[in-house]
Amino acid sequence: MTTRIFSGMRPSGKLHLGNYLGAIKNWIALQDAPDTATCIFAAVDLHAITTPYDPATFQKNINDVLLDYLAAGVDPKRSLLIRQSRVPQHAELMWLLSTITPVGWLERLPNYREKLTQVAEMTPSFGFSGSVPPGKDVMQHAREQASTILDKKSYQNNLSLLAYPVLMAADILLYKADLVPVGDDQLPHIELTNEVGSKFNHLFGETFPNVRPFVAPGARIMSLQDPTKKMSKTGDDGIALTDSPDEIRGKIKRATTDSGREIMFNETDKPGISNLLTIFSTLSGAAIDKLERDYAGKSYGDFKADLAEVVVGFLEPFQRRRAEFAADPATLAHILTESEEKARIVAAEHLAEIHQKMGLR
Ligand code: TRP
Repeated sequence: MTTRIFSGMRPSGKLHLGNYLGAIKNWIALQDAPDTATCIFAAVDLHAITTPYDPATFQKNINDVLLDYLAAGVDPKRSLLIRQSRVPQHAELMWLLSTITPVGWLERLPNYREKLTQVAEMTPSFGFSGSVPPGKDVMQHAREQASTILDKKSYQNNLSLLAYPVLMAADILLYKADLVPVGDDQLPHIELTNEVGSKFNHLFGETFPNVRPFVAPGARIMSLQDPTKKMSKTGDDGIALTDSPDEIRGKIKRATTDSGREIMFNETDKPGISNLLTIFSTLSGAAIDKLERDYAGKSYGDFKADLAEVVVGFLEPFQRRRAEFAADPATLAHILTESEEKARIVAAEHLAEIHQKMGLR
């Protein structure tokens, strides 16, 4: 049995250690596994634009994520590296699948409900004014208005928030992928993918395989400031894969620790130290109980100083490879052109079959 793998991340800001340990590390392991037939790793730009973003820096964000993938070890000889919007069949399949996806299945999804709360916290007004103030350059006015529309003010309960998981199902089913490495917050979306896939099979004939999620064992990295929340952004909360050694040392020094002084793994009583132990253990390969023994009687400060060097040492070769790719944009451009072309061929073939089955051809 060969495996087809698809995964993606939204290009919305720099990737951090949590993204690496929770996701990309598994991509690389799966890419290198013997029964893997194809891997497709995507910067899911069409998903990223469902939340407020800046068009002026968007291409840079996409580029940053792709460089992170390559530096982490995505191997263009074995895997395809694509930008979702460059393979137009993703959006087309989303539409086709939307015709068999009841709105009720989407409304109950936890990620959608969470987005709705975020939307409710923002100003609901839509501030576009069509008329150009006297004496003002039309283009200048349009640009200013456009940046207003695309910022927080346009973050409403848009159709795309509800349809988001249908696009994700399309990403996966377009390639008939059967294994999807994801964070555990994405499990409801994988379930929806299977519900939509089997409904299609039932209505139009056997087409899509069952999709299995692959969740990394024990690699949930939490925020350094609030260890009860997932590491989600950089700043002091997260360590970006591109942070300098001094930034890393400072962030780890400032990381929240717990009361008491023992270095012990206990997620309820000592969430801060437990998170730091997880990071230490995953990056160094040392078991957590071995670390606990090694640091018995030592201070939080000693432990943090050693952890900082482990992180710095781990990121050093990553950052060297990233700098090499960044200095050579032609190579990345070539990888993308080739990958996206191959992806479009598979996608077109599957979409033709889907069209046929649905009676569109
Ligand atoms: N929704 C995913 C996330 O927010 C990103 C994503 C989009 C994805 N399409 C996908 C992940 C397909 C796996 C497979 O993390």
